[in-house]
Amino acid sequence: MHIEIVQNYEALSSKAASIVISQLILKPDSVLGLATGSTPEGLYQHLIKKYKEGLFTFKEAISFNLDEYLGLSAEHPNSYRYYMEEQLFKYIDIKTDNIHMPDGQATSSIEECLNYEDKIKKHGGIDLQILGIGRNGHIGFNEPDVDFKKGTHVVKLDAQTIEDNARFFDSLEEVPKEAISMGIKTIMSSKKIILLASGPAKAQILYDTIYGKITPKVPASVLQLHNDVTIICDEEAGALLINKQMEEKHV
Ligand code: GLP
Repeated sequence: MHIEIVQNYEALSSKAASIVISQLILKPDSVLGLATGSTPEGLYQHLIKKYKEGLFTFKEAISFNLDEYLGLSAEHPNSYRYYMEEQLFKYIDIKTDNIHMPDGQATSSIEECLNYEDKIKKHGGIDLQILGIGRNGHIGFNEPDVDFKKGTHVVKLDAQTIEDNARFFDSLEEVPKEAISMGIKTIMSSKKIILLASGPAKAQILYDTIYGKITPKVPASVLQLHNDVTIICDEEAGALLINKQMEEKHV
């Protein structure tokens, strides 16, 4: 794992954007794995800015999002489809046909999962996957006690995730209890992964992800087994990593 601890959220967003931009300059038809949540918002802002300056284009890019709430339509303001439109897609030249998100309202969610996984494979897999991390170590919506072998599947959301995501809804009751998420197998098949973490609430879980035991109890810990992961965090999220690195220097 390559770990980059940068000063603040702005530096984190800019560093992540430069990795995505160089990916698209070198391979314009890259398959990007995209994430939601508040952490990648700054990255998307940077991408929009540099795209508008003419540095690169999304004309040939293909995107697959990590997850979607079950039961929410694409037009629902809390759906991840809506989030992606508002945070990124409506400002760039990605082709609508090249945008892929699990359909939270599919008649058969099981079939939707299989089709989604199939589509990713048909595009040759994900070149660059962007990840955030939940306070409980979830990536996508792969909650603690995840089965590492699963591809895209229906997941039940953890009580902590429902609580954490309630800030985007009018009430706790309105947060969907299930979602469709790429599985750990899908994520681990990506050629390159960037995980972003910001703020003090992520410090402990980030430490456990990098230095803890590889266990389904901390889903992100599986990333220790991937051969091309870059963790980008700000000083707050990286606080315990800094201590660990200092300790190692003094041994
Ligand atoms: C959400 C998403 C994850 C995201 C995580 C952290 O539930 N499904 O993909 O990484 O929570 O969100 P935030 O970046 O807002 O802390």
